[in-house]
Amino acid sequence: MAVDPVGRRQSGMPSTPVSTKTQVAVVGAGPAALMLTHLLARAGIESVAIDLRSRQEIEETHRAGILEQDSVDLLVDTGVSERVLRDGYRHDGIELAFGGGSHRIDFQGLVGAATQLYPQTDVFIDLADARERDGGDVRFGVTDVSVDDLTDSPVVRFIDSNGQGHQVRADFVVGADGSRSLCRRTVPKAERQQYFREYPFAWFGILAEAPPSAPELIYSHSPHGFALISQRTETLQRMYFQCDPTEDARTWSDDRIWERLQTSVGANGYTLKEGAITSRTVLPFRSFVQEPMHHGRLVLAGDAAHTVPPTGAKGLNLALADVRVLAEELERAVTQDDLAPLATYSKRALARVWKAQHFSYRMTTMLHTLPHATPFDVRRQEGELAALTGSVAGSTYLAEAYTGWPAR
Ligand code: DHB
Repeated sequence: MAVDPVGRRQSGMPSTPVSTKTQVAVVGAGPAALMLTHLLARAGIESVAIDLRSRQEIEETHRAGILEQDSVDLLVDTGVSERVLRDGYRHDGIELAFGGGSHRIDFQGLVGAATQLYPQTDVFIDLADARERDGGDVRFGVTDVSVDDLTDSPVVRFIDSNGQGHQVRADFVVGADGSRSLCRRTVPKAERQQYFREYPFAWFGILAEAPPSAPELIYSHSPHGFALISQRTETLQRMYFQCDPTEDARTWSDDRIWERLQTSVGANGYTLKEGAITSRTVLPFRSFVQEPMHHGRLVLAGDAAHTVPPTGAKGLNLALADVRVLAEELERAVTQDDLAPLATYSKRALARVWKAQHFSYRMTTMLHTLPHATPFDVRRQEGELAALTGSVAGSTYLAEAYTGWPAR
């Protein structure tokens, strides 16, 4: 709804905006934003987090389901791990399937680490519950968000879900507002660099009521296109297959989806256990980075600053790695009223971001069937997969990157 300059709604009851102050205003209340406010609260720093989406909308958006070792440790270290440890599944490796067979990457044996299968939406639920329990100020379903005076005295304006206008003055603003970030657009062009890459394919993602088809995840490369066989529980599975970015998920019957998935993994010797498909969506593929990740008193975190294609499940892990570092640097910035720690944050975060950009790009380009690929491209891709899986050095790189680099 439109508002006039003093925050009154142009239709309905006029309302004077409520003016408040906080130390850190966070635009976005997804899992990374909530982890940040949770960490800040533990350091005695006040915050307000706002999100355009309702809590239910966020809970119902299916996202990736793999947590790196450090992401799990962060939940454990900050007291929000009851469910992830109880309901998550530890995975000690993955299968890379190609050339008619399958090759296990043994995370434990190679790097002594594991991942945890636990959906992003559940991480969000755990953090939202923790913020509610701790009396954190989190507003879902807000509208008309604007951020101003970021170089001097930041102010965030919004209308809450009851139609009340707000004006929050903050020492610092965090843009954790996702891949369509409003905050990152407030950084003047001359002050930032954007890097962007699009891919000529997407993923068709499904949830199916079926038992698991294999003990671990299968990343399957074949002439019939890439497929990823992931899991959720003993009775619910998550699977993806490569499709055209313009594909309309609603036009696919269950039979057609199963045939497509069975053909892809069948080429490498797998057969899937089938069941009713309860959700189907098409996921876009992009790589994006905006540098630096700070401007004046604004910092960006998670998808607002960087997007990775989903292969390898780095998105949430990278966002959690951002906020772990950001909480440390923001604590310095707030207590000393100093901007220098924001530049340090950007530098520390970007070192990991570019490693993850490379890993996600490599997993994507190595495993998908590339449109217009020449016979040379196809054989070269098989050579890459053989080189990686056939060498301890190659497999160790993959295991280290997949389970996550140590925090710095
Ligand atoms: C899942 C998603 C990924 O992108 C991935 O690489 C592994 C697993 C998932 O949703 O389970």
